[in-house]
Amino acid sequence: MALKDVATQGAPITLEDAIFSRRTVRSFLPESVPRELLEKVIKAGFASPSPFNSQPWHFTVVTGKERDDLVKIVRKFPAYLADILALYPKEASEFDSLSEEYISSFAKNLGGAPVIIFASIPKKTNKYARKVDIIACASAIQNMQLTAWSLGLGTVCLTSALWVETEIMAYLGLKDRELVTIMPIGYRESDPEPTSRNDANVTWLGF
Ligand SMILES: Cc1cc2nc3c(=O)[nH]c(=O)nc-3n(C[C@H](O)[C@H](O)[C@H](O)COP(=O)(O)O)c2cc1C
Repeated sequence: MALKDVATQGAPITLEDAIFSRRTVRSFLPESVPRELLEKVIKAGFASPSPFNSQPWHFTVVTGKERDDLVKIVRKFPAYLADILALYPKEASEFDSLSEEYISSFAKNLGGAPVIIFASIPKKTNKYARKVDIIACASAIQNMQLTAWSLGLGTVCLTSALWVETEIMAYLGLKDRELVTIMPIGYRESDPEPTSRNDANVTWLGF
């Protein structure tokens, strides 16, 4: 069955399957995504926990001409690639596969994703309040990524777009909000290879 048919014909996958089979997708089919599926993804984001149920997130879902306009802004992020890459250890496991050439080529059309979701929170000066809102928004994003995957879609959490945040938020008319990430979404062209995980990043006390 083609990946894009999973949403309508495939058996639902379990939460565990979604968690462990989900991969970041950077190459999409050109087909549009039915709004009904996008609404399911957004609803999954809205179901996330947040402090005092404050729901600080806002999602702007963009397709068509607005998507194309925004891609023209987002595709400028490779100009900052040296700064972006400097934030991560050279031994990070994706450094080999995500070459500068690959990133620049992906950036040109964001892998062809027909829809982009822009996730934002209110601008806040209190560092704790801001951190808490980012955590809540990130929970929502993960719910959305897993739901998208379970519906046969693919996503990439593309924080590199933060380097062109000012221009993005001006276009969206959201100058009083902070961009958390953008998330290209669409039917996946193929299933990416699994990525590795370091099982050592845990400490057990008192066991
Ligand atoms: C907070 C966050 C930021 C990320 N930023 C980017 C990004 O800017 N560009 C990109 O191509 N992938 C980005 N990713 C995707 C990661 O590269 C990917 O999750 C990681 O390599 C593990 O691969 P997997 O998602 O397929 O398991 C980001 C993921 C997260 C959670």
